[in-house]
Amino acid sequence: MVNDIGFNHLSLTGWFPGHMLKAGRKLQEVAPLIDLVVELVDARLPLSSRNPKFHSLLPGKPAMVVANKADLADPAASRRWQRWFEAQGERVFFLDAREPSDPDRLVRFWERVALEEREKRGATLSLNRPVRVMIVGIPNVGKSTLVNQLCSEKRAQVGPRPGVTRQNQWIRLRGDLVELLDTPGVLWPQVRDKEHELRLALIGSIRDEVIGIDLLADFIWYELSRQPERVDWSLYDLSGCPEFPEELMAAVARRRGLLRAGGGIDHARVAHALVKDFRDLRLGAITLEFPPEPDVPTDS
Ligand code: G4P
Repeated sequence: MVNDIGFNHLSLTGWFPGHMLKAGRKLQEVAPLIDLVVELVDARLPLSSRNPKFHSLLPGKPAMVVANKADLADPAASRRWQRWFEAQGERVFFLDAREPSDPDRLVRFWERVALEEREKRGATLSLNRPVRVMIVGIPNVGKSTLVNQLCSEKRAQVGPRPGVTRQNQWIRLRGDLVELLDTPGVLWPQVRDKEHELRLALIGSIRDEVIGIDLLADFIWYELSRQPERVDWSLYDLSGCPEFPEELMAAVARRRGLLRAGGGIDHARVAHALVKDFRDLRLGAITLEFPPEPDVPTDS
């Protein structure tokens, strides 16, 4: 039973053992070839979809954050995040990797970053060759989608180059100032607590089967109850957030025709329907975490 005490009393699934070490070693291997590391995160969960060890794996390496799936996030929250990252001295770019014009804007941004880095680092970054960029991130943040969008018309290997293998190619992007490693690096999150794990599951970085669909559906109610004004409750003929998750499930069941004869509900099917509605944006664009306090001033 879920209630106001939240979810952190539940135990973690321990879904990521061992992976981090391997991913970290692989990243360190290619690191010398890379001029700019782009950490892709989910715009709905910009901090918790990062890997906190990432910077210590690549000390001194120029890096930036790209917050993908911005189309699924609350735009006002994304603006707050943008200011927060910038206040931390981090470069950040919000993106919808599936929107063809967005990756193009991103390349232009990389070109500016490349020029800035050249100015700052002088001789350590050659003026005579394109800047080499690698995308890294935890599962499901959209790494392959972004690489495919960026490289869709440029599937020609730029070689011979160090680091180029059959699976590993540098692709020169528009403007010829940037080369992208076409194999993104996979990072694993360090899960702090159960709510962190459940948020990672909501954004698809942990598989539903690992968590259990019923728990995930209850967690959606919990997340929606924290910001009810953002939610389109009319989807389930509701006027606001129900007091208990069971009421939400009953409303989903009624609306989706998943009531059983006798009035009971098919829990698993209702839970799947709710999770799908959440992910398909039918409940609204919902950001799952906000910048840590103290916050920066909001728009007036
Ligand atoms: P990964 O390599 O980091 O693991 O992620 P991948 O590119 O496989 O993307 C994971 C899912 O996220 C895919 O959906 C992809 O279409 C979707 N996606 C990627 N970028 C964006 C974005 O900016 N906005 C939105 N709304 N979705 C994005 P899928 O359902 O797994 O597959 P499919 O829909 O492509 O069939």
